[in-house]
Amino acid sequence: MKAYQIDDFGGPEVFRQSEVERPTAGPGEVLVRVVATSVNPVDCKLRGGSDRFDLTPPAVLGYDVSGIVEAVGAGVERFEAGDAVFYTPTLDAQGAYAEYHAEHASIVAHKPASLSHEEAAALPLAGSTAWQALFDRALLQAGQTALVYGTGGVGMLAVQLAHAAGAEVIAVSSPALTEQTAEAGASRVIDYKSEDVAEVMQSAGVQAEVVFDTVGGDVLERSAAVAAPFADLVTIVNTAAPPAGPLMRLNASAHFLMMQRRGATMRSLARMAERGLLRPVVADVLPLAEVAEAHRRLEAGGVPGKLVLRV
Ligand SMILES: NC(=O)c1ccc[n+]([C@@H]2O[C@H](COP(=O)([O-])OP(=O)(O)OC[C@H]3O[C@@H](n4cnc5c(N)ncnc54)[C@H](OP(=O)(O)O)[C@@H]3O)[C@@H](O)[C@H]2O)c1
Repeated sequence: MKAYQIDDFGGPEVFRQSEVERPTAGPGEVLVRVVATSVNPVDCKLRGGSDRFDLTPPAVLGYDVSGIVEAVGAGVERFEAGDAVFYTPTLDAQGAYAEYHAEHASIVAHKPASLSHEEAAALPLAGSTAWQALFDRALLQAGQTALVYGTGGVGMLAVQLAHAAGAEVIAVSSPALTEQTAEAGASRVIDYKSEDVAEVMQSAGVQAEVVFDTVGGDVLERSAAVAAPFADLVTIVNTAAPPAGPLMRLNASAHFLMMQRRGATMRSLARMAERGLLRPVVADVLPLAEVAEAHRRLEAGGVPGKLVLRV
């Protein structure tokens, strides 16, 4: 089958089209014909050789799939050939920048019928991260205030999910995304380039029960100033713990979230999409042959939504 592979770590130019052996569905697995995939920052980090990940080239990257089940392995009962499915593949060297992908059925879900394959491919990795940060880690509840830093792939879905859950959502966003962020459900959009988050929150007299950081740097450290008593601060970027003093005074907790690949999370996302409460923002759909261009654009920043690759 056709795949886009890296033989070495490096810039986007390292991708090359190659012929690799088509995978088969082992016991408990589904073999999926990939219709669409998408690019995520982790793909760029892996391609560049980040030492945070245990991956050695040659490798096929790509950690979102929307596609059609081609075959099922022994013991798979939830799916059959012809089913439309979506999921975020295991983070290994057999990713989804390819015509086919095999994955354990336990992390796969049926694609919501209300979304095209291109839209569904923008959801699994970013959506699972947003869902688990807000609901598995932070236990966000209706009526609470969620402060979301960054409204890219993950943050934009977090704004939609938090809004759908009945929370008041304040988002710190790139100015290019102000309108989309408000449409996604943020009642106040703070421009990260020109506004000070603590000033805005304090002058509005608002405190956040949940702070979700998709940006990193000193966000968690600064968040104690805007957090409510018993707040949960969740970062997906910064592994360094913030100073304990200010958080202790609030009985607040800080967590690093590593997204877990789970069929249950995928089914939750599908249900929200079917109910019209979750709709990925797709900035552009490119052919898989333009994977290097998609990486260049994601790394340059300022992309108004997810970049999807049609296989
Ligand atoms: N731990 C995990 O399991 C996990 C899972 C998924 C993602 N991640 C990580 O989470 C991060 C975000 O992922 P993503 O897919 O959402 O990335 P993305 O699509 O590139 O979005 C990042 C967004 O943050 C904005 N931004 C940059 N600096 C900001 C600031 N100071 N304040 C507010 N917004 C700012 C960017 O705007 P501009 O483009 O205008 O700069 C962009 O809209 C990445 O580092 C990714 O690797 C971790």
